[in-house]
Amino acid sequence: MQPFGTTPDGTSISLYTLANRNGMELAITNYGGAVVSLKVPDRKGTFADVVLGYDSLQGYIDDTSYFGALIGRYGNRIAHGKFTLDGVTYTLAKNNGENSLHGGAKGFNKAVWTAKDISASAGPALQLEYLSKDGEEGYPGNLSVRVTYTLTAQNEVRLEYSATTDKDTVLNLTNHSYFNLAGPGGADILGDELMLKTDRFTPVDAGLIPTGELRDVAGTPFDFRTPTVIGSRINQNDEQLKLARGYDHNWALSAEPRKEPALAARLHDPISGRVLEVWTTEPGIQFYTGNFLDGTARGKGGQLYQQHAGLCLETQHFPDSPNHPAFPSTVLKPGQHFHSITIWKFSAR
Ligand code: GLA
Repeated sequence: MQPFGTTPDGTSISLYTLANRNGMELAITNYGGAVVSLKVPDRKGTFADVVLGYDSLQGYIDDTSYFGALIGRYGNRIAHGKFTLDGVTYTLAKNNGENSLHGGAKGFNKAVWTAKDISASAGPALQLEYLSKDGEEGYPGNLSVRVTYTLTAQNEVRLEYSATTDKDTVLNLTNHSYFNLAGPGGADILGDELMLKTDRFTPVDAGLIPTGELRDVAGTPFDFRTPTVIGSRINQNDEQLKLARGYDHNWALSAEPRKEPALAARLHDPISGRVLEVWTTEPGIQFYTGNFLDGTARGKGGQLYQQHAGLCLETQHFPDSPNHPAFPSTVLKPGQHFHSITIWKFSAR
């Protein structure tokens, strides 16, 4: 553990580094629970940091792109910042046009989490806890959230999320890391090959809110069932790609959360050979090609992150589920225990 700076209100923030016996390293800050760096070997065994982020705490305080952060209480969008639960309408901040995004004005990405080293036989591990108070950002119920990051000897990062509440509420937890398997200063992500293990996605309107349809990917630029170069279709004259300025959509993985994590995505950088597999129990995954990055964020080593400098694979429940009764439910009730697992498995070929 090292000091990582102090917030404007005087809270000391730390940086925790987990290392495994293969030399892989994962650094996390308890500010926003963000993954700050992740060093992974390529096919020759050369390590590089494969996530976008900042050199200092100030970067994370000023950040508007959610680099590496834990996202909540509700990841992705809620239409018009409104939902009804048990007959009560709740109003959220509209921080993304007409909609609420990633928990509102001050989401879990701006929270200071309580960190604890819980390294065990499964590998070095960090536990982060946060109590989101009843009414915070307009959401009902005191929500106790726990996220555990474990770095295994198999070069996996295991993210385990759990939560309980004292009132009916909604939640959608994820991590917003932007990956670039080439490492710092390498090419953008358009040359990477991606496989998404699903045949449906949820098309969106102009505000990037799902219309409610589950659309078959066959014959569309959204078909990643076989590994496909990300940039090969991204500029096609397709209504959905135009609305999002690239890929920024939820693919449906399963009708309900799974008991055990299943393969959702496989990303391959043909130059370095690095491979990232994403396994999850979550029913959806947001594939986002960093469309809104515009060179204004000064990242690690002074790098200005341009459009498509990194991509996100956010395991999640579907966007705007509280307003779509047909989507897998995001409601959590007192007495219930929310639990979900996502695993990033790294290798090289
Ligand atoms: C998510 C959203 C994107 C964008 C990013 C943050 O991935 O789906 O539209 O808002 O977060 O910039």
